[in-house]
Amino acid sequence: MKQFKVAVIAGDGIGPEVINEGVKVLNKVAELDSGFQFDFTYFPWGSEFYAKNGKMMDDNGIEQLKEFDAIYLGAVGFPGVPDHISLWDLLLKIRKNFDQYVNIRPVKLLKGAQLPLVDVKREDINMLFIRENSEGEYSGAGEWLFKGKEHEVVLQNSVFSRKGTERIIRYAFETAKKEGRTLTSISKANALNYSMVFWDQVFDEVSLEYPEVETASYLVDAAAMLMIKDPKRFEVVVTSNLFGDILTDLGAALAGGIGLAAGANINPERNYPSMFEPIHGSAPDIAGKGIANPLATIWSASQMLDFFGYEMYGKVVLEAIEQLLLEGDVLTSDMKGTGSTSEVGDRVTEIIKYIM
Ligand code: NAI
Ligand code: MG
Repeated sequence: MKQFKVAVIAGDGIGPEVINEGVKVLNKVAELDSGFQFDFTYFPWGSEFYAKNGKMMDDNGIEQLKEFDAIYLGAVGFPGVPDHISLWDLLLKIRKNFDQYVNIRPVKLLKGAQLPLVDVKREDINMLFIRENSEGEYSGAGEWLFKGKEHEVVLQNSVFSRKGTERIIRYAFETAKKEGRTLTSISKANALNYSMVFWDQVFDEVSLEYPEVETASYLVDAAAMLMIKDPKRFEVVVTSNLFGDILTDLGAALAGGIGLAAGANINPERNYPSMFEPIHGSAPDIAGKGIANPLATIWSASQMLDFFGYEMYGKVVLEAIEQLLLEGDVLTSDMKGTGSTSEVGDRVTEIIKYIM
């Protein structure tokens, strides 16, 4: 029987609560197929680990993770640990060391999810964001000079390499071609007169290799407006690290809320493990209450199934989420329900059982 080794970093706050439900779903799918199974290994890393050990993960943490087929992550960050430390020393460390340069974030309004806009049809909200995930504005390059002095200066540099820019844009073209959909590039070349002029140039160059893919290009501010006013313009979308981060939170609001938004961090060459996670954070305000919405984490489980080559099961999991939303009986409070985190997970697994 095929075995997939998955490293689980449940993390902080609601992380462990939602991850439990995702693991439940993955185990159910594996049980029903009987051709493969998951072997989960839990790592206690995160802010609590930091409080005890002064670091977010083991010193050889990256080495330990290397042998896994995938990483399943809840959320990291908690009051008491500065957010830039929890983010850089765990999440970004993994994304960078494992060259997970593609961040895939679906912005699709599922059946049964609440439609937030007037004059917009459900089918109009069906975007696939492909966000650059290894450099750009989140390169970490910079300097803090004369810290604390009156004349202090900070520099935060963006890095757009030809290799990094080309590979993400090419990945997006390949995706658009495969799916037979349009590709939109989002940049800001009027104000960012080096990085984004370069981005646009590379987009135009690569587009010549894909004459069959229809393209569009918007400035990020206009794109933010158009995502609300005319979302159907956006099908496959490629953008930089920062713009993608911001626009996909906007996308989450369009597509049923933060409790539904999932993301995959992919190393397409499969030299290293890829990582699957909800895009929300650790939600300290509701942690420990058993009311966090696990659907985003369950959606990212569906992305993991796709990644392992079981697209039909990825689809089953999405259909199960849709079915649950349509039923509307077992939902968490962010979706105006009264269900608990584990009740939602249980219902999804039940639905999977009768769909499969
Ligand atoms: P957040 O996403 O944790 O919470 C924002 C709001 O959404 C809160 O009101 C929260 O209760 C609600 N929310 C989030 N996920 C939910 C869910 N599954 N079900 C129901 N409600 C949910 O963002 P915030 O508050 O800005 O950050 C909290 C911590 O999380 C910080 O330490 C931050 O650095 C970290 N963070 C970590 C991320 C990650 O691990 N990928 C991503 C974003 C933030
Ligand atoms: Mg974000």
